[in-house]
Amino acid sequence: MKKDSYKIVGGNKLFGEVDVQTSKNGTLPLLSACLLTSQQVVINNFPQITDVFNMLKILKKLKIKTKVKGNSLLLNPINARNIKIGCKLAKTMRSSIFFLGAMLARFKQCTIAMPGGCNIGARPIDIHIKALKRLKVRVGRSGNYLKFDATNAVAGRIKLKLPSVGATENIIQFACLLPGITTIINAAKEPEVVELCNFLNQMGAKIEGAGTGVITICGVSFLNGIQYKPSADRIVAGTLMLATAMCGGEVVIKNSNPEENKNLINKLLSIGCKIEINCDIIKITSNGELKNLTSICTGYYPDFPTDLQSMMLTACCVGCGKTIITENLFENRFLTTTELIKMGANIHQVNKNEVEVIGGKLFGAEVYAKDLRGGAALVLASLVAEGTTKVNNVHFIDRGYQQLDFVLRSLGANIRRI
Ligand code: EPZ
Repeated sequence: MKKDSYKIVGGNKLFGEVDVQTSKNGTLPLLSACLLTSQQVVINNFPQITDVFNMLKILKKLKIKTKVKGNSLLLNPINARNIKIGCKLAKTMRSSIFFLGAMLARFKQCTIAMPGGCNIGARPIDIHIKALKRLKVRVGRSGNYLKFDATNAVAGRIKLKLPSVGATENIIQFACLLPGITTIINAAKEPEVVELCNFLNQMGAKIEGAGTGVITICGVSFLNGIQYKPSADRIVAGTLMLATAMCGGEVVIKNSNPEENKNLINKLLSIGCKIEINCDIIKITSNGELKNLTSICTGYYPDFPTDLQSMMLTACCVGCGKTIITENLFENRFLTTTELIKMGANIHQVNKNEVEVIGGKLFGAEVYAKDLRGGAALVLASLVAEGTTKVNNVHFIDRGYQQLDFVLRSLGANIRRI
């Protein structure tokens, strides 16, 4: 049985250099997009995290040959078969919804169990469904399954009611092989969408406007195979910057694009960190005493990312003064506050999407991760808490972080898996 806890003794400053792992949310859609070709796809330096390994289980069920060769993932979709994506698989992997667009492009039909919500929210897929219907995809429901039929689909113009990352990525994958021009208005601008478009264009797709709110896809008849190295994980880079800000010290973060963390970097500068940027190298220096930040509001890119909200909240727990934190994307993304309060945090929930934090001291305790990013936040809290903390349910953290304990230990943190 894999050890599922971290034992962390707080108080160490962080010093050193770190290469940021490859992006989880940048890689996952590429794994479904391999269905859009019959040739081999190689993903170099892929992130060795459980969300990727679970996604490979779905690929295998689709009869896509997968092979790990060192740091590379070899995918051979030539004999891909359409299968019903059942409840168990859909529940294990919310990202199974990312297969929808690619499966419809490849097979024209797809049956997928309604992907359940997760601990941070209901995670509806109404925007995905409305957009596909706009392209004349027929959507039926039988029990807990949705049946999609794209036999008579046509290219067209879609306006998303909000810039959903997953919906944007699904439509892009579906429209790549759909004759005609499909336009997505109010498209998501996240770097992961840009990554997917770069990947597909290198395979021969014709996509314009990636990173803007209007993306056009001109359908082509086939896509070629590709060798591709996805970019660094901006949320992991942000995690390491926040860890350094809170612990104090000096850390050089390599191979991550500072532009993708501009909002966070501006906030870290405002609370007293020194940050030097040189191409894809970020050097952050901190004395560990953080000035007050009056408010944080999460939003769609390039606003402050919801995936860093729990960790920023934790930084405010050891900062000074009062901070109001507003979570605008997910309805249940303050789950970790109960665990931080066990460590002495002064947090008051104002309403379902707003909390008030008063800076102070944290003390070691036994706490439980309840979601991926909340789990990372508990690790950061433990690094600065007085005494020893045991963080349980580390399997949540493994979903998105490749050996987080190893990376932090290499920077001087007193953390080990038990
Ligand atoms: C992606 O989720 C990421 N996951 C999330 O990261 C990230 O938090 C989120 O984008 C926002 O940036 C992956 O890329 C695998 P959305 P996604 O559709 O696509 C609502 C992590 O920690 N919505 O942009 O599911 C939805 O409820 C994860 O790595 C609808 O209402 O996010 C939410 O309020 C967590 N109807 C908002 O849109 C829909 O049909 C944003 O969701 C779809 C979404």
